[in-house]
Amino acid sequence: MSSFHLLGGEMHAEAVPLASIAAAVGTPAYVYSAGALRHAAQLFRAALGKVPRKQLMFAVKANPSPAVLRVLADQNFGADIVSGGELDCALSAGITANHIVYSGVGKTAPELIAALDAGIGRFNLELEREGQLLSALASQRGRRAPALLRINPDVDASTHAKITTGRLDSKFGIPIDDALAMYDRLAALPGLDLHGLAVHIGSQIIDLAPLEAAYRKIGDLIRALRQKGHRVYHVDLGGGLGVSYRPGLPSANVEAYGAMVAEVTRDWDATLLFEPGRFIAAEAGILLTRVLWVKPGSRHPFVVVDAAMNDLARPAMYDAWHEFAAVRPTGEKFVANIVGPICESGDTFAREREMDRVQEGDLAMFQTAGAYGASMASTYNCRAIAPEVLVDDNRYATVSERMAAHQVRRQRLAPWMDDGAPSTRAA
Ligand code: LLP
Repeated sequence: MSSFHLLGGEMHAEAVPLASIAAAVGTPAYVYSAGALRHAAQLFRAALGKVPRKQLMFAVKANPSPAVLRVLADQNFGADIVSGGELDCALSAGITANHIVYSGVGKTAPELIAALDAGIGRFNLELEREGQLLSALASQRGRRAPALLRINPDVDASTHAKITTGRLDSKFGIPIDDALAMYDRLAALPGLDLHGLAVHIGSQIIDLAPLEAAYRKIGDLIRALRQKGHRVYHVDLGGGLGVSYRPGLPSANVEAYGAMVAEVTRDWDATLLFEPGRFIAAEAGILLTRVLWVKPGSRHPFVVVDAAMNDLARPAMYDAWHEFAAVRPTGEKFVANIVGPICESGDTFAREREMDRVQEGDLAMFQTAGAYGASMASTYNCRAIAPEVLVDDNRYATVSERMAAHQVRRQRLAPWMDDGAPSTRAA
């Protein structure tokens, strides 16, 4: 049974009617299912059953809610972070520092220092200068920073261009042909404990062949590094497994992924790290919304909902599909466009889509929104960031409040400006 399902004709999150949540926190609101998070976490771990030494780190960027991170920490997931802010989120959720890996192409010195001081498990280095800086910062503290070198294997992940990271024309990682020489130099730095490699070629990957190609290249590099006497005992295989956003389209086959990893890495003799984000969280969340209007259109009506591209950016940014369903479906369908209130045509969730017939005032939901949903929200059009609710069986709790008006309006006048009304000023 899916965690979001019909019970007595009404959509529930686990045992809680979505209508109760809407009554309690209003709309739009994100709703997460703890059961679905646990299920995906267990599925992922089980698929890697043949990998003897592994650490699973949830990619915090997919969903940094501390409540979500805590559910996953209880499943023995650490965290893959990409900023000082994500470090705070992971630590505040109770993830132990040595279970945190820090990736990202633009870590600042204060961020590196905070991560060093927290004692995180590993830094994934993206360029040589970063390794030099980290070494210097660690040396000043009488430490050696545990580090892996992120490799750009020059493999196209066959996914959306904006979430492809493993081609040479992308900003990520060290070009694989430069890796041996750079590893030599970085391994010699006094403040670094360089002990392995990392790779991540993109996100929403369904076809496993590019992942396998990348991992095989990493295997060759491990052998070459060891021949030169280098220590390689941790290898971070990144995230990237895709999910099905649209009925009829497949998810990545996680069992096949696990079997492929076990086969490709069988003689690596290293602890493997994994950084799944979407695969763990996407299906565990929905965006609850209310229909404001059904406005006649030239060909099809516009269903104007109270959620917008500032709440769920993926359709506007990647032309992504999110299923839309009524909370109390009548069984009737119609063809319509789904749009939000934001003042640009990009604020469109779906065009000419066959969907549940909805009317003014109805509750509805966008599905598969637990990853890269709330985490990409903005205040565009001075809209408040939506609240988040975690459901666990028949319990639910608001785990982030709707942003208050004074937080949305955080800008202020310059001190030399008087705050009189325009008419007073003109006088
Ligand atoms: N590790 C690294 C180094 C990453 O850059 C990412 C995602 C992940 C792990 C997790 O990847 P996942 O398992 O979630 O595919 N906003 C986009 C997705 C951006 C992904 C960025 N990096 C979207 O909504 O589709």
